[in-house]
Amino acid sequence: MSRIRIAPSILSADFGRLTEEVNRAEEGGADWIHVDVMDGHFVPNITIGPAVTRAVRDATSLPVDVHLMIEGPDRYIEAFADAGADWISVHHEVCPHLHRVLDQIRQAGTRCGVALNPSTPVEAVREIVHELDLLVIMTVNPGFGGQRFIAHSLDKVRRARELIAGFGTERPDGSDCLIEVDGGVDRTTAPGVVEAGAEVLVAGSAVYGHEAGVSAAIRELRAAAEGGP
Ligand code: DX5
Ligand code: ZN
Repeated sequence: MSRIRIAPSILSADFGRLTEEVNRAEEGGADWIHVDVMDGHFVPNITIGPAVTRAVRDATSLPVDVHLMIEGPDRYIEAFADAGADWISVHHEVCPHLHRVLDQIRQAGTRCGVALNPSTPVEAVREIVHELDLLVIMTVNPGFGGQRFIAHSLDKVRRARELIAGFGTERPDGSDCLIEVDGGVDRTTAPGVVEAGAEVLVAGSAVYGHEAGVSAAIRELRAAAEGGP
């Protein structure tokens, strides 16, 4: 089994103490920091932009994983890359020229990902999956933290794994595209998504809303994901 990366989403953190919250995740053993960018158009909620992403960048040495839930993401790729993003994912549903946007992300020196809403089939990325660094399977409808995991997503993660397996060795650097799951991931849903083939687990409320604290939450999630106690 490949190594599982835990990516706490700062969406559920206390924004008034963001540096501290990011530090807590890093000290608690997080692998990436997930940054949810929402524009009030593609999704109903409005969150943060490049300036706050820069503050996250400055607070950590971990990879910063930016999830753009915005219309016309091509207008903001450079801004988020300049703000220090290591990974940028755009939604398939807002990119009629996805191939071009992925080029733009790579040219900005950032790894590229595509996120799929629950109703978007994995086949939507069939012709582009060999160029992806990250495929984000939304396991809730994007827009808010704390929603319930959509159980049907497990089959979708399996189909994504099959799709990637069919192309893996064709990627220029010989590596595989990672599968990330985002939404409703906690210690009860983590084992299933990992078994289905996910390698990056985003968790917001399960990490920042855990009564025992961020470190304990990350430990618990990793143990669940890796089949531990
Ligand atoms: C949802 C966001 C998620 C969110 C996950 O639109 O993309 O990253 O923070 O939150 P939880 O883990 O609480 O479902
Ligand atoms: Zn997200």
